[in-house]
Amino acid sequence: MGAGARAVARCDELGSAPYSDDPAGLFRPYLGPGHKATLERISAWMVAAGMTARIDAAGNIIGRYEALVPDASALMIGSHVDSVRDAGRYDGMLGVMLGIEAVAWFAERGRRFPFAIEVIGFGDEEGSRFPVSMLATRAVAGSLAEQPLDLTDRDGIGLDTALHDFGLDLEHLRKAARPREDVLAYVESHIEQGPVLEAEDRALGVVSAIAAQLRFRAALKGVAGHAGTMAMHLRHDALAAAAEMVLAIERIGNAGTEDLVATVGHMTVRPGVPNVVPGDVIFSIDIRAGTNTVRDQAADTVRAALTDIAHRRQVTLSVELQQDLKATPCDPGLTRLMEQAVQTATGTVPRTLVSGAGHDAMVMAGLVPVSMLFLRCRAGISHHPDEAVMKDDVEAGLRAMTDFIERFATSTVDGAGAVGKADGQLTEQKPDLTGHV
Ligand code: GLV
Ligand code: MN
Ligand code: MN
Repeated sequence: MGAGARAVARCDELGSAPYSDDPAGLFRPYLGPGHKATLERISAWMVAAGMTARIDAAGNIIGRYEALVPDASALMIGSHVDSVRDAGRYDGMLGVMLGIEAVAWFAERGRRFPFAIEVIGFGDEEGSRFPVSMLATRAVAGSLAEQPLDLTDRDGIGLDTALHDFGLDLEHLRKAARPREDVLAYVESHIEQGPVLEAEDRALGVVSAIAAQLRFRAALKGVAGHAGTMAMHLRHDALAAAAEMVLAIERIGNAGTEDLVATVGHMTVRPGVPNVVPGDVIFSIDIRAGTNTVRDQAADTVRAALTDIAHRRQVTLSVELQQDLKATPCDPGLTRLMEQAVQTATGTVPRTLVSGAGHDAMVMAGLVPVSMLFLRCRAGISHHPDEAVMKDDVEAGLRAMTDFIERFATSTVDGAGAVGKADGQLTEQKPDLTGHV
């Protein structure tokens, strides 16, 4: 079996129980039993590839391939191992598997670098367990300072208990932070999760930037009452108000620039029984755009529309900001190296594109320069069990990753010379991505 095929086969193996918490499909939330089983399996693969493996204080798995010299800084490569509910098998995991294969490729050839390579499988990118995402990534990047940690999941289990059950400790969570000097750069390979590469018949693409995101929690309080006796004109139905709000949010998303998207993906209705007018509703709002400005203007419009609906329907509304991820440009110099690597791997002039999906790289960019490689996926389908990749594309992705690492190594002695420079010029990083999502 080729290395690309092995990476795919490993994602497939990790796509069901015991690596999933859902016996009927793939659901691997942060710190669940599926997550634990997955880390044991990945750890064995990392060791077989020539790395030492450890789980850090935030539940991330880290394989380390030593440098020519001890205690060297590391080039970090990877993605996330957690998943959404009813997930596909490659979102995140393929990037981790490709990282392991890249190290295996060098180890088999006895090739070592002046820098170490660390393959990381982040534990929480999706935010599918607790109400915020990228907890484990932010722990590594050292950006958890402002984040309240008294979080609970939908079953009422606290982050402290979940960490404890995993053999970790909330008190030590922030100790997963890596000192800046430990890490040279972060490079992530990931399925595109969109249709562009397939439409253009390309195996690979290079990410120039990642779109900005906001996540809110909206809570509505109406008046619960008997569904048979409460007259229609006297009702303060929280679900009917929420329904109108969902449609308003969709309308605002539709009315904006092409890069703007707005989604309500989760809703809780209380008491949630057929014969009671709903008194309480909680729902999520996810707003993304290529620029922070477009995203923030849309969020203001959403807030105004929701306030208006709540007022008209006489329900109480509170909207709480849960996550703010700014538009993230990839490092221009590393992006140039990745473009060269993709050109070598595929023999075609590379396509650069902006990612509408969020990635660990957004958070890691707060610590170190980042670069991202995209792999074509079938019909652009993702966050769905039908997610699929082609083995030949994964082989090409592996060639691009190993070529990138060689180029990174020759860019200077410590591999950091390419950072920030495109075509030998220092390039300012501008998070203005209008119209490219
Ligand atoms: C993660 O996949 C996200 O884009 O929300
Ligand atoms: Mn995802
Ligand atoms: Mn992902």
